[in-house]
Amino acid sequence: MCDVSFSETPVLGSEDQTPKKRFSEVQKERREQAQRTVLIHCPSKISEKKFLKYLSQHGPIHNHFFYESFGLYAVVEFCQKESVASLQSVTRTPGLGTEAAIPFRSRCFSLKLRSPSGQPSEPARVPCNSQSPPSSKKLFELLCYAESIDDQLDTLLKASQLTEENTRLRYLTCSLIEDVAGAYFPDCAVRPFGSSVNSFGKLGCDLDMFLDLDEIGKFSAHKTSGNFLMEFQVKNVPSERIATQKILSVIGECLDQFGPGCVGVQKILNARCPLVRFSHQASGFQCDLTTNNRIALKSSELLYIYGALDSRVRALVFSVRCWARAHSLTSSIPGAWITNFSLTMMVIFFLQRRSPPILPTLDYLENLADAEDKCIIEGHNCTFICDLNRIKPSENTETLELLLKEFFEYFGNFAFNKNSINIRQGREQNKPESSPLHIQNPFETSLNISKNVTQSQLQKFVDLARESAWILHQQDKDRPSPSGNQPWGLATLLLPSVTNSLSLAKKKRKKPASERIKNLLESIKSSGAEGPTDTNGK
Ligand code: GTP
Ligand code: MG
Repeated sequence: MCDVSFSETPVLGSEDQTPKKRFSEVQKERREQAQRTVLIHCPSKISEKKFLKYLSQHGPIHNHFFYESFGLYAVVEFCQKESVASLQSVTRTPGLGTEAAIPFRSRCFSLKLRSPSGQPSEPARVPCNSQSPPSSKKLFELLCYAESIDDQLDTLLKASQLTEENTRLRYLTCSLIEDVAGAYFPDCAVRPFGSSVNSFGKLGCDLDMFLDLDEIGKFSAHKTSGNFLMEFQVKNVPSERIATQKILSVIGECLDQFGPGCVGVQKILNARCPLVRFSHQASGFQCDLTTNNRIALKSSELLYIYGALDSRVRALVFSVRCWARAHSLTSSIPGAWITNFSLTMMVIFFLQRRSPPILPTLDYLENLADAEDKCIIEGHNCTFICDLNRIKPSENTETLELLLKEFFEYFGNFAFNKNSINIRQGREQNKPESSPLHIQNPFETSLNISKNVTQSQLQKFVDLARESAWILHQQDKDRPSPSGNQPWGLATLLLPSVTNSLSLAKKKRKKPASERIKNLLESIKSSGAEGPTDTNGK
């Protein structure tokens, strides 16, 4: 074991007094950790003790774990980066006989046992760490056995959030891709963003990464004095977009031809945000590589801050995302549906609207910012406070159960036809354009992050939200006792039959089921409730 420069405390401080790390600190630490790490494909049966002893010839090991994905793999983190080079110096490129290997100095190794007799006769199987989310059946069981709806939301969060090991594997994968990209751009960085780092990632989610070439640019930004101005000799192209497409095209080609374990490489260069999509076989991640995506990284930081401010935020977001997925409101295929990113924004907005608010507005976070937090990207103001320990916690004490119910009611009755969701100001605003769902992009404020959503998809969301609010109200009145045999609470909301019965009922009856539910809900609600709003503009 060894001394390393950072603690092994979880990324997010719990709601005790532990100081919470800044996003940039976490990124820096994780990146350094990944650079000291190697990935080893192992025979299915090995002696863990001998394996570690063998590797520690190259330096002390700080951490390791095993997992299965097309075979057994070990992630081994050395204490020092030099150990990786030492290990590389004693390994060889495989000579495969019928196939030819393209040499590349990677950090993915394959361990071959020279003589099986060197191993104990039947080494025990090493303990494997799971990188997959629980099956729907397993999750359902866990929810049925929980003690309360609050407990159900916590259970769902704990069962599906990224584990420490999965997070390490994500940063390692980016670091391995950086090795490939670094062959052409030696000072580049490949940084993860999106749900892998914003604290809302679920086991099995994709790995969004971007190729950061800013460090290279910085070298040429030095001012020179005197009569001579030395410039790098570069090739010029007509636009930033074309430069991005060319860079991604080359990197995509490198990944396809030489990238160890990179398969199914697709260059999607004509998209609004050009990307290279591929599967990283050894880690099992579906990867999306873009370039120059600094605003998306800043969005990830903002979500990380919101997720860390109050423990109810992540629990609620995970449940809402799971609910949406269970009813096919979201999909892994891009299309006319709501995205997880939009759902997260909706939850944040809802929590800003509570009284007292559970989350502050983005404008408030900008007001708290110091000079060092100032951040303008491509002319967009992305400034907000980065030290989350300076943000006052909320005084709101509402339970998760109440918040879930109110979330469905709030959006079941939201005037989507008139209003836009805006987390910068934390209040509804008139929609600047006619898209059915308008969620203002927090940094590029003239953009709508949910422009793709059609009226029918929005209506499906509204109908299901109303139905779910109704179910929770009904259960309140006639609460089934939590039991492992019967679905109840959150588990009922995830049942696919909810959607089916709703659409069936809609076909059978003249008045849409959701309208009847809305009226029933209003009649149940206490007199202090807000007046009804027209949700579909009809
Ligand atoms: P998953 O569904 O778990 O992958 O969530 P995600 O947050 O990673 O979403 P996704 O992979 O679709 O996108 C990755 C990141 O890109 C998001 O976290 C956002 O920062 C950004 N992003 C996604 N969609 C949009 C969009 O429509 N507009 C803008 N401005 N950014 C987006
Ligand atoms: Mg993603």
